[in-house]
Amino acid sequence: MDSIEGKVALVTGASQGLGRVIAQELAKLGCRVVVNYANNTANAEQVKREIETAGGDVRIVRCDVGDEAAVNEMFRELGPVDILVNNARLDPWLRTADMSEGEWFDRVMRVNLKGAFLASLAFFERAKARGWGRIVNIASVRSFRPAEMSMIAYGVSKLGMHALTRAFADNGAPYGITANTVAPGMVVTENIGKRLTPEKYAEESAAIPLGRGATCGEIADAVIFPLRNGYVTGETININGGMYYAP
Ligand SMILES: NC(=O)c1ccc[n+]([C@@H]2O[C@H](COP(=O)([O-])OP(=O)(O)OC[C@H]3O[C@@H](n4cnc5c(N)ncnc54)[C@H](OP(=O)(O)O)[C@@H]3O)[C@@H](O)[C@H]2O)c1
Repeated sequence: MDSIEGKVALVTGASQGLGRVIAQELAKLGCRVVVNYANNTANAEQVKREIETAGGDVRIVRCDVGDEAAVNEMFRELGPVDILVNNARLDPWLRTADMSEGEWFDRVMRVNLKGAFLASLAFFERAKARGWGRIVNIASVRSFRPAEMSMIAYGVSKLGMHALTRAFADNGAPYGITANTVAPGMVVTENIGKRLTPEKYAEESAAIPLGRGATCGEIADAVIFPLRNGYVTGETININGGMYYAP
């Protein structure tokens, strides 16, 4: 296994939820973590405090990953980045009633897919020169299962992550750069109660063979595996309590 101690790890959308825990776990392994976020500075500062309190090395960077100039500027400012976790997403529950289907689709793609594309490109050019790099794209089991009507754009954006992974795996292989996808099912974050009532959580859990959502730590563990094992590339780690195979 490669040591990732001392590596600079940029986690996009790390001001809350899964990204926050991935950043915390990478810091525990000795990475110099960069917590990216778009809107909520107070949350990002809280994550920074948590990581520092635990003895980790962390900085926060506000950058809208859908903005090409801002992404390139972020990478210029950061200097060498060894690990990129494309985790940022537009919260599917943020859609307002006045947004048309087309407007919503564009917004989802801009953050979830274009954001990962832009960050990967900026990362790739720099990592190539150093001969080592790791990309992990956070997708979803919804890439593979038919989405309900309100989640079609989200599912399509997440399926696109697999094409990104394969492309960067293939183009990166000669330069020691690997790229993989982690596709979670339901993840229990600190905000789960904002979108699911206890009854709805129980109903959704009942449809999962293992009977519950994943902890963020369980998903972070899957993210860490291909960072440390340099022989895994172009793959998808499905981690979903059995949702993938369940009818
Ligand atoms: N939660 C689940 O059940 C589940 C299941 C399967 C897959 N996933 C995937 O796991 C990942 C994390 O999910 P989550 O539930 O933790 O998400 P979340 O709670 O909605 O958090 C999203 C994060 O993305 C950031 N973000 C939003 N727009 C951004 C932009 N334009 N540029 C940079 N950052 C931006 C947010 O920062 P601000 O608050 O500052 O905007 C926040 O830190 C996502 O890729 C999601 O699709 C989640």
